[in-house]
Amino acid sequence: MTRTLVTSALLYANGPLHFGHIAGAYLPADVYVRTLRMCGDDVLAVCGSDDHGVAITIAAEKAGEEYSAYVAKWNAHMRRTFDAMNIRYDVVSGTSTCAEHAEGSQEFFTLLRNNGYLVDRETQQLYCVHDQMFLADRYVEGTCYVCRHEYARGDECPNCGTWIDPLKFVDPRCKICGNTPEQRTTRHWYLDLPKLRDEFIGDWIRGHPWKSNVAKFIENLLEDVPERAITRDMSWGIPLPGDVTDRDGKVLYVWFDAPIGYVSFTKELMRERGTPDAWKDWWKGEDTRLVHFIGKDNIPFHCLVFPSMLYGTKDGYVLPAEVPANEFYNLKGGKFSTTGGNAFDVIEFVDRYDVDTTRFYICSTMPETSDSEFSLEQLVQTANTSLAGTIGNLATRVLKFIAKNFDGVVPELHEEHREEMDRVILTECGDVEDPAEHIRAFRFRRGAEAIVQNASVANVFVD
Ligand code: 2FM
Ligand code: ZN
Repeated sequence: MTRTLVTSALLYANGPLHFGHIAGAYLPADVYVRTLRMCGDDVLAVCGSDDHGVAITIAAEKAGEEYSAYVAKWNAHMRRTFDAMNIRYDVVSGTSTCAEHAEGSQEFFTLLRNNGYLVDRETQQLYCVHDQMFLADRYVEGTCYVCRHEYARGDECPNCGTWIDPLKFVDPRCKICGNTPEQRTTRHWYLDLPKLRDEFIGDWIRGHPWKSNVAKFIENLLEDVPERAITRDMSWGIPLPGDVTDRDGKVLYVWFDAPIGYVSFTKELMRERGTPDAWKDWWKGEDTRLVHFIGKDNIPFHCLVFPSMLYGTKDGYVLPAEVPANEFYNLKGGKFSTTGGNAFDVIEFVDRYDVDTTRFYICSTMPETSDSEFSLEQLVQTANTSLAGTIGNLATRVLKFIAKNFDGVVPELHEEHREEMDRVILTECGDVEDPAEHIRAFRFRRGAEAIVQNASVANVFVD
């Protein structure tokens, strides 16, 4: 039987989950997993926190907390939020705490290096003389050389999405002290994406049946594929393998180790279950369908970079079968943002408005093919009409009917009654649809609609 291995994007351990995250990568995964399991499929669901990287070290420093304590706090908060939202995974771990993760990430590095897909280069990097450190990623900011946005980060421009080369900033500034950094020489390892593209991944991407919004996104991705640095000058992260020269003061880049977390967490789970080798059935089994639930901003990493890494190990890993990336879920016309004050506290929200109502509403407005909007008024309306009105009404009527006519016990259904029932439904009550078919195809909105539609048909039948 086909196995479905489901992952949700590992959440940066530097803040609470908001409905933007939940609608993007977590609720759809949970609904998908539950649906497949109800149909009898073999499914494994993996998630956790993404604990490394500069965004986290900067935030922890600002909060005056140790990196490890800081990420542990947010990992625990993530688990509480999943519980409150009734979102379940087989394993929820973290990239800084999972015992299998460092060795597993180093093994990827070594395999890629041995297979000729890593190159080391002496490069120029921005260095802050005042803070005495190389300014990796977000430790530097400047004006974007593509769109002229003044506050582009050292890894990415928030305005136009360009993967930034900080050396090209016209006015680079150290994020810690604000001084202008200078260029110094350092050595880094690069993933040879152009080679991986030309050898295999380019054809694979071009031939893959991506979801339509994902296909649009990756159309241009292949044209200009640079080598990507996968190491950083900093202390918080996964150390380079012991046999690499010049490894001191360097760690693997967060986007290198993060997706490997999916593999490490599966290993952790299987060890805990007492079947330590079983992770291979999932990650290297021919009949595995690997499905990555992510938000659209993660598309390049899940459709190009991580598949390149998996392939480049030449170690039997499966490549993703589906990347059902969602677009953005907005609030009041803007992105959900906890730091920007545009969000609800999810745990308080579901306590007040009910978790199933919230889940159903988010499913019925999910940003599947384009950005969509969360609205409290609409949520209340959905609760009153679809849930209380149609489904609740059906439940009440049926329960009353059973209580009144059958002493509260669901009567046995005889074959001739079933046939009669099917006939009446089909000829007199309306069209029924299979919600699971929609959900399997990542059409969560249609799945939610189909459930309400079926309840309407059932109400006619009760009439
Ligand atoms: O964008 C993000 O929130 C990342 N933390 C997602 C990582 S997904 C995976 F690669 F781990
Ligand atoms: Zn500085």
